[in-house]
Formats: sequence, structure tokens, C-alpha cells
Amino acid sequence: MKDVEALKKIAGVSACDYVQDGMILGLGTGSTVRYTILEIGRKIREEKLDIIGVPTSLQTKKLAESLHIPLIKIDEIGTVDLTIDGTDEFDDSFNLIKGGGGALTREKIVAKASKSMVVVADSTKYVKTLGSFPLPIEVDLEKWTDVEKKISNFCPNDIKLRGGKNNPFITDNGGVILDAHFGPTIIKPTELEERIVKINGVVEVGLFVGMCDAIVMASNEEVTTLTNPSGRLS
Ligand code: 5RP
Repeated sequence: MKDVEALKKIAGVSACDYVQDGMILGLGTGSTVRYTILEIGRKIREEKLDIIGVPTSLQTKKLAESLHIPLIKIDEIGTVDLTIDGTDEFDDSFNLIKGGGGALTREKIVAKASKSMVVVADSTKYVKTLGSFPLPIEVDLEKWTDVEKKISNFCPNDIKLRGGKNNPFITDNGGVILDAHFGPTIIKPTELEERIVKINGVVEVGLFVGMCDAIVMASNEEVTTLTNPSGRLS
């Protein structure tokens, strides 16, 4: 039986099959896509691939820089060829919950600018219904108590300020994260996303709907690529 770390590595490296010479590549954030980024660094070094990366967080930027991956900011280019990123949950419709690492806002900006998005995951990230993983919501530092009150009107369980009041987790954008414990109740993610982003003070919500084109999923038995039939890679 392989441990989760081994599965992350298999998924992360396997996703590089989608990487082609000359691409502008969105580089996601997290412990699974870290293996993708390490492999891209190797490809640039050993296979002389010409790749430019668009990092989705300061953490990823630092990693990519340490590997000498050339980088560009998203606002310096209009379009990204492909983004590879991790996820905290995915369902049968290729909808995702992201933001466990707190980078959801930039991850979504880069994913939206991408011609396609491939997600790397181990099989523990698959769920029938989204929501067991607390939904990350990035909020303006000055507005979180108000936003928390408004979301508590329709979130069935508790909402926690990540890091707590005394030591809140601060995002790369200077915001904070509310983790909303919806439980496995998110059957209409588009509606929930629209409802949450409308609240004054919300920067972004970690629901990624209609963005993921394929999932490279490692389980104990094998690596499976799930291709979204209505996606851009089918
Ligand atoms: C960061 C993310 C990550 O992609 C997500 O949390 C998955 O991370 P990991 O691969 O470490 O489980 O959304 O904001």
C-alpha cells in the first residue's frame, strides 16, 4: 500500500505528460503540484524545454525560482496555455474545492486565464458531494466578522477564521480566510459561489466550477486520467 505522499508524487509527475515545449504554464500551489513543478524544473534543466511559468502564490514563486524556471506575472500576458494545480476535493462533474493552502484567489485568476486546466490529486480527494472539506473563502481583513455573520445565515455548520483571531492566516493578497463547514451538502456549487461572492468583503471563494478539464489521479492501483467530457481536452 503506497502512502499518500507517494501517490501525490505519482500524480504530480504524471501530469507533466500534458506539458509541451514552448508553453506558458500556470503553476499551482500545494504539496501535490510541488512534484509537478520539480519535474518541470528537471525538464527545463535536462531536456532543455522552453517553458515560462505563471506562479499562483509566493510559495510557488519561490520554489520555481529555486529551480530556475523562468516566470512571468499574469498581468504581463493575456493567456496561459495550461494550468496544473492541486485540489482539496473534486466531484463527478469535475467541480473543485480549492484553497487549503490559502492561494485560491490567484489560483482562480490564473485558471480563468488558462486555455485548459489539469488537476493533480490522490484518490482521497474524490467525493460524491462537495463540502466535507471546509470551503475556503478569502475575505478582506476589515470585513471578516460581517461576512462570517452573513454566511452563517445559510452555512449549516460553523465558520472558522483560519489561524484564529489572535494569529489569523494572512494570504498573499493581505486578506484572511474563512473556512466554512458546509459538510457534504454542496449540490449546486455555481449557485453557492454566486451567493458568496456577492457578499461585500468577499474577495474570492474556493469553488472552481466548470474550469477543470482533466484530473490526473493516483490511487494504490494505478494512475488514472479522468477527462472532463465537456472540457477543453476531450
Ligand atoms: C492551495 C490549494 C491546493 O491546491 C490544495 O489545497 C491541494 O493541496 P495539496 O496538494 O497540498 O493537498 O488549493 O490553495
